Amino acid sequence: MADEQGLTEAQIAVHWREEEYYHPPASFIGQANAADPRIHNQFREELFPECFKAYADLLDWDKYWHTTLDTSNAPFWKWFVGGRLNASYNCVDRHLEKNRNKAAFIWVPEPEDEETVTLTYQELYERVNEFAALLRDFCGVKTGDRITFHLPMTPELPVAMLACARLGVIHSEVFGGFSGNACGDRIVDSGSNILITMDSYYRNGDLLDHKVKADEAVAVAEAEGVNVDKVLVWRRYPGKYSSPTPMVEGRDYFVDEVLKDYRGAKVDPVSLPAEAPLFLMYTSGTTGRPKGCQHSTGGYLSYVTGTAKYYQDIQPEDTYWCLADIGWITGHSYIVYGPLSLGASSVLFEGVPTYPDPGRAWRIAERLGVNIFHTAPTTIRMLRKAGPDEPQKYNYHFKHMTTVGEPIEPEVWRWYHEVVGKGEAIIVDTWWQTETGGFLGSTLPALQPMKPGSCGPSVLGIYGAVYDENGDEVPAGSGKAGNIVIRNPWPGIFQTIWGQPERFVEVYYEKYCKDKNSTDWRDWPYFPGDGAMQAADGYFRILGRVDDVINVAGHRLGTKELESAALTVEDVAEAAAVPVMDEIRGRAVEIYASLKPGFEADDKAAGKVRQAIRTEIGPIATPKHVWLVPDMPKTRSGKIMRRVIASISNFTDVGDITTLANPEIVEEIQKHVQASKVAQGEAPQELSAVELAEIQRFGQEE
Ligand code: PRX
Repeated sequence: MADEQGLTEAQIAVHWREEEYYHPPASFIGQANAADPRIHNQFREELFPECFKAYADLLDWDKYWHTTLDTSNAPFWKWFVGGRLNASYNCVDRHLEKNRNKAAFIWVPEPEDEETVTLTYQELYERVNEFAALLRDFCGVKTGDRITFHLPMTPELPVAMLACARLGVIHSEVFGGFSGNACGDRIVDSGSNILITMDSYYRNGDLLDHKVKADEAVAVAEAEGVNVDKVLVWRRYPGKYSSPTPMVEGRDYFVDEVLKDYRGAKVDPVSLPAEAPLFLMYTSGTTGRPKGCQHSTGGYLSYVTGTAKYYQDIQPEDTYWCLADIGWITGHSYIVYGPLSLGASSVLFEGVPTYPDPGRAWRIAERLGVNIFHTAPTTIRMLRKAGPDEPQKYNYHFKHMTTVGEPIEPEVWRWYHEVVGKGEAIIVDTWWQTETGGFLGSTLPALQPMKPGSCGPSVLGIYGAVYDENGDEVPAGSGKAGNIVIRNPWPGIFQTIWGQPERFVEVYYEKYCKDKNSTDWRDWPYFPGDGAMQAADGYFRILGRVDDVINVAGHRLGTKELESAALTVEDVAEAAAVPVMDEIRGRAVEIYASLKPGFEADDKAAGKVRQAIRTEIGPIATPKHVWLVPDMPKTRSGKIMRRVIASISNFTDVGDITTLANPEIVEEIQKHVQASKVAQGEAPQELSAVELAEIQRFGQEE
């Protein structure tokens, strides 16, 4: 991974100070699901793959499986073969007998004067059945069809997910904050003919028009040859339409109106093979086309149930709040499927946790008696900046907290522990991905001490390692970084990329595959695309992506997607996207663009590029700056040197540029960009060795 100018792995290690351990409080250990040290024994590598029976046995199966892991079509693993089950039954029906009046979801609307809505398991059961009946009879969908959702954080989203799961229909939720265009692309990729959306939702005090995005999505899909027959529109306030965008006759339907015909309807859960796909979740990669990660029913549900039990420590009396969006994998696995399968009470929050003031999140925790809290470093940084002393003003007590989605800085971790957790809560730093269904790296709460900034060792049944470029293992404690790999399959791993099986093998398995004809899982290590270091205690420190992906506020944005969005502007000839360090979001995006001859490099052009990115992808991708440059630094073969422009944006050394085709352009861009940044109050900040290494290797894959 080291290059001539960059830091070597050993240098990164030297710069990295080992943090001290924090030990789990006795009060936590006394009650934890994972307090029994024998649990490690059950997951010893010699017991693989049968060890995962422990997770699958947490579910109700219509038919028990005969083969735990079938590797015959490597690396398309099949788990729990021969087994049949239904995810909706496991998350809803099976809890009715003992817990019908228990809260399944507690929904907190953003406006503080709106009542909290509690959905008991009984009520969820009724609503899921009615909506499943509507999907089956009004929309005519059947097992194996795909439906796209573009839903915000309201109870209608999990109701729709569970209704699809009941029918064996594959749901594909597109994050509500994504643009209509992004939603349209995903409709096309998945071949959905039904779109489920909502008229409006609250964010930061505004009731946003969301329906308008459905019209854009349908138009994009139609232009690419996919017809959306029906758009189902939930209303934020049933009976009252809160969007200025007209409904389209014969295509758009208000769900609350159609549902009247299905009052009290019941739909038998369809008994599905364990390998039946449950959902698609799109994520970014190195090429522009998004990847629809296909997750299974039996393997996925077993894995999220087991990890929610042992790593989230969810127990019957707990109130669990995962402050993430269901539009991301975190929400699917650890707001909906994992907690519900365990029969938990899961809090859903519509809005922004700092609205109307930085105490909002802690008021919710206090009022609902939340004792398990789960969020991402970007939110923790935001809450810390907006109200560093707020938590102590509220009387809540967490036993357990999670951080997920990006590396957390040790000082932010300590604020989370001392101030948010009041020194009482255990923290798990869970490292994983959209593709992996559930956690891969984390400490086992109660049994393993925490170390700020490190996710911990591999979780139960996962055998992680760090490999160098040749596939040789970099030993733990060697002080060297490399690529983290998982040496074995596990039930939560995605089954394939929807419609792109070759890409699935190429991106995740080809790099370290020992023998392409082998059906032995030992020959197929999984390559997640992250750099990491493993300390002598076996704990991993994740260093970030090794591909062309920028992690903005815990969300993956591919450089190619950003650049293609910029290129939709007529003026733009070439564009390059690079990461820049950001206090709250971890990383932000900066775009460099050169214009075609005859176009004026002015604020208007830069504004068009910014707007194009918002329209194509969504506000989350809004660049911090758009720099219009006369030319890009390029190699002699014409490739844009992203590492050079990333260095300029981050005020770091641009390294050796003598081999470039146009080295003189570097200084010109550097002067302009850095002078403008300083003029806008963006002083150069000192980067850690890890951050420096990320910038210096950015775009190196090219
Ligand atoms: O680079 C890693 C980072 O986020 C990537 C996965 O992003 P996504 O698929 O959007 O899933 C996010 C929620 C699971 C990883 O490849 N990442 C995720 N969790 C951590 C992390 N980096 C460091 N520490 C983590 N805990």
